Amino acid sequence: MARPKILVLNGPNLNLLGTREPEIYGHDTLDDIAARLTARGAELGVEVESRQTNHEGVLVDWLHQARRDGVHAVLLNAGAYTHTSIALLDAIKATQLKVIEVHLSDPETREPFRHLSYVGMAAIDCVKGLGAQSYMVALERAAAL
Ligand code: DQA
Repeated sequence: MARPKILVLNGPNLNLLGTREPEIYGHDTLDDIAARLTARGAELGVEVESRQTNHEGVLVDWLHQARRDGVHAVLLNAGAYTHTSIALLDAIKATQLKVIEVHLSDPETREPFRHLSYVGMAAIDCVKGLGAQSYMVALERAAAL
């Protein structure tokens, strides 16, 4: 039988991890994180697929496709769209996917405009403030769902 699939969706500017404000986001690249997720997923008996886009509508399309594909859960770091995107909130609600919100930093301890999370209004869980480790903790939780 196919292993349950966990989709890791990354939004804008996360392709620049490693060089992007490393004092906030650390030195790991997104490829480093994706490789660790895939390896840990294999140990947990789940398939992990990681993607990144700078485009809001692409994230919406990927959520729709995830629903059609019957993915087990989604780890979503929507970057700045977290704080602006009613379209992503609606997509999570519409698809009824189990979405875990992920952030490297803790947006609630940063500028006030980062305190609002539309993603968080529909996500079932949130892991933040642990750097790249946020993704690993979220994967453990997603695999256990
Ligand atoms: C982020 C936090 C967001 O506020 C920011 O816009 C990002 C990254 C994080 O992972 O800490 O792009 O989602």
